[in-house]
Amino acid sequence: MKKLRVAVLGCGRIAAVYKSALEHLDGLCEVVLAMDKHLNRAQAFAAGFAGCEASDAVEPEAFRRKLTECSPDLVHILLPHHLHCTYAVTALECGVNVLTEKPIAITLTDADRMIAAQKASGKQLGVIFQNRYIDGVRRVRELIRSGELGAVKGAFSTLNWYRPASYYECDWKGRWETEGGGVVIDQAIHSIDLVRYMTGMEAVKVQGHTARRILQTIEVEDEADAAITLENGAVYSFFACNYYTMSSPIRVEISCEKGTALLTLEEMEIRWNDGRREVIHPDSAAGTAVGESYWGAFHEIQVRDCYEALLEGRAMPWTPQDAKKTLEIVQAIYLSARVGSDVTL
Ligand SMILES: NC(=O)c1ccc[n+]([C@@H]2O[C@H](COP(=O)([O-])OP(=O)(O)OC[C@H]3O[C@@H](n4cnc5c(N)ncnc54)[C@H](O)[C@@H]3O)[C@@H](O)[C@H]2O)c1
Repeated sequence: MKKLRVAVLGCGRIAAVYKSALEHLDGLCEVVLAMDKHLNRAQAFAAGFAGCEASDAVEPEAFRRKLTECSPDLVHILLPHHLHCTYAVTALECGVNVLTEKPIAITLTDADRMIAAQKASGKQLGVIFQNRYIDGVRRVRELIRSGELGAVKGAFSTLNWYRPASYYECDWKGRWETEGGGVVIDQAIHSIDLVRYMTGMEAVKVQGHTARRILQTIEVEDEADAAITLENGAVYSFFACNYYTMSSPIRVEISCEKGTALLTLEEMEIRWNDGRREVIHPDSAAGTAVGESYWGAFHEIQVRDCYEALLEGRAMPWTPQDAKKTLEIVQAIYLSARVGSDVTL
């Protein structure tokens, strides 16, 4: 069976998760190129894969030449947020499919540039939102889509995590220009995406507030809240902060006419109004996560899904336009906080 030739760009913290995933997926892919501006990081990644080249030729033109020379089928972009756009566009222009980490980009304009490059290339552009693969998340999405849970009446998400000052001691975190924001765009974007994904609804109005309350060395927000009105009028209440004492399990709840679904970390509890109760734990195969526990265990499942789609000539799951919709809510929270009023989407 044909294997995908895969390249990885960015060999920092999250790369450990990919290293493990790609080792497990060796029946579907051959890792041919690992790149990082720090050669030793690229080498450490490449060392796990026979025949994989390590390179620090990462200036956009050198990157273009490297892709042309190496001709991978897909490049994983695991870079600081502000670099997703430049490298995704370059890869697509070279005829290489792209699977980038979240967020798609830090501005909607950059997201549009990526979408335009994808259309022009005829190649595919995917964005990682691995939590969509949590077993209970998929079940609730289906129950809402089929009408079994009835109409969505409201939702909330809370994220109380711990990021010490040392987390921000790098060349891109904690700054608007490079991270594109703080706890909303980096951490709580997953919760926003889950509410969109499970309800199947878009936001129409956002009233948001952000603050930098505790983490004094950063310029972006360490706390945010918002009232997000969904297209049927239901209100999604959003809260996130990065200054709790630990990274407590996230909670995402969807309240529907016939019951309520509560996700706590990766466990879903559905309470039906008629008294039934259903608890969905992640498949035991997902318990093999590496890296930080709050990254969850679902990267490998999304990557596998994307590889299988490419190998079978299908579209990768969900579109960059979909990932841009989640970024629109993030940006609406920031805009609303800045102007001090509602933002209509
Ligand atoms: N899906 C998730 O749950 C999850 C979790 C963690 C991180 N992420 C995402 O992964 C991405 C990377 O985050 P991280 O925590 O690994 O960051 P990181 O800073 O640890 O790693 C980034 C790597 O990119 C390299 N780099 C920087 N500029 C480069 C360039 N021009 N060319 C090549 N390499 C360059 C750095 O040397 C570093 O090794 C971000 O988009 C982040 O949001 C996602």
